[in-house]
Amino acid sequence: MKLHVSGDVTVPGDKSMTHRALMFSAVADGESRLRGLLPGADCRSTASVLRALGADAADPPADGSEIRVVGRGIGAWREPGDWLDCGNSGTTARLMMGLLASRPFTATLTGDESLRSRPMRRITAPLERMGARFQELGASGTLPIEVGGGELRPLHYASPKASAQIKSAVLLAGLGAGVPVSVTEPVLSRDHTERMLRALGEFVQTSVADGAVHVSLTPSGRALPPLDLSVPGDPSSAAFLVALALLADEGELRIRDVCVNPTRTGFFELVARMGARVTRENQREEGGELVADLVVRPARLRGIEVGGHEVPAAIDEIPMLGVLAARAEGETRITGAGELRVKETDRIAAVAGNLRALGVNAEELEDGLIVRGTDRPLSGAVKSFDDHRIAMAFGVLAASPENAIEIDDRAVVDVSFPGFWELLDRVTRQSD
Ligand code: S3P
Repeated sequence: MKLHVSGDVTVPGDKSMTHRALMFSAVADGESRLRGLLPGADCRSTASVLRALGADAADPPADGSEIRVVGRGIGAWREPGDWLDCGNSGTTARLMMGLLASRPFTATLTGDESLRSRPMRRITAPLERMGARFQELGASGTLPIEVGGGELRPLHYASPKASAQIKSAVLLAGLGAGVPVSVTEPVLSRDHTERMLRALGEFVQTSVADGAVHVSLTPSGRALPPLDLSVPGDPSSAAFLVALALLADEGELRIRDVCVNPTRTGFFELVARMGARVTRENQREEGGELVADLVVRPARLRGIEVGGHEVPAAIDEIPMLGVLAARAEGETRITGAGELRVKETDRIAAVAGNLRALGVNAEELEDGLIVRGTDRPLSGAVKSFDDHRIAMAFGVLAASPENAIEIDDRAVVDVSFPGFWELLDRVTRQSD
């Protein structure tokens, strides 16, 4: 049996941009118009947290149609009556800490079991230096955390990690407080916050010096104007379809309107090094972001080495890359990816453990993985570990008719890619 792939499809809106679009609309003064928002659970968490603060952010509609959000400025936010539940969403919790740091009230952020186990001091430490106060109500360094906001001081922060969540929390705290802030990071992490702030008329500078990236915001002090934004497709979601097409035996897949911001395209570059051809067509700039259609065909893949400087632009796609490596010729070695241990689950352990359960030779490193490819049929039971990207990465592998792979929880994909399984079915066909 062969796997045939075909279709001309879109993927749901970019998750990082959707969070930011909702947050900026709730900070702005006036009526924002937002199209193509991701309707996934993570973004619904952001909308509900903003509503609990008095903003009028509706849940992103399932079909990506336009919503209007009437903002009355961050000054109109009110102390919430209850804890703010960020669900599974690290971006919601960490970016909201930045925005809440300047508010003259206290608010407590919490989340599901996975989020309550993820480290938060990377965010609270720089914000404390600006003058915000945090009280950890649970285990040390994790949610639930009470944020005590107020007047803030300017900050320059040398971040030890290339993390858009750390960088954005500081930038948003500076924005809310009206004080200048800057962040140095070792490699440029995704820069949607900076791009949106610039598009809204704020002064954000990015420069590279001594091998590090320096980002600064000098707030204008003016009210943020409303947004008029179409969110392009999420490259992290497109990555699963690209991988599906690469592993197929025949056919071609076109994925339209994908965000190809260079801080997000690491996966496409890495699979190109493995021997794939992912062609970009119709590339254009929209709303301050690069957008293109991707065209991909099956390919014979070979193992590669991936180093730490390449990880930030592919951070959420490393699980899929690790799974692809199981079907590549030779060895793939990924290092400098220790951050994967503190994502929705420990993604290094999850990928290696699941691959081994299928009989693949996979080895965990402290900060990465070594996978030796095989063309033997793969069978066995794998776990999602309540992690959307783990479920989808193994879902792609399971689509090949030669494999017999059981995934324990498929519904978890709703976090970032509602409709993933239906789309996967729609673009694949088995033939003799
Ligand atoms: C995100 C930043 C990344 C990424 C996450 C979304 C964002 O996390 O893994 O899925 O929207 O800012 P880090 O900032 O921890 O690298």
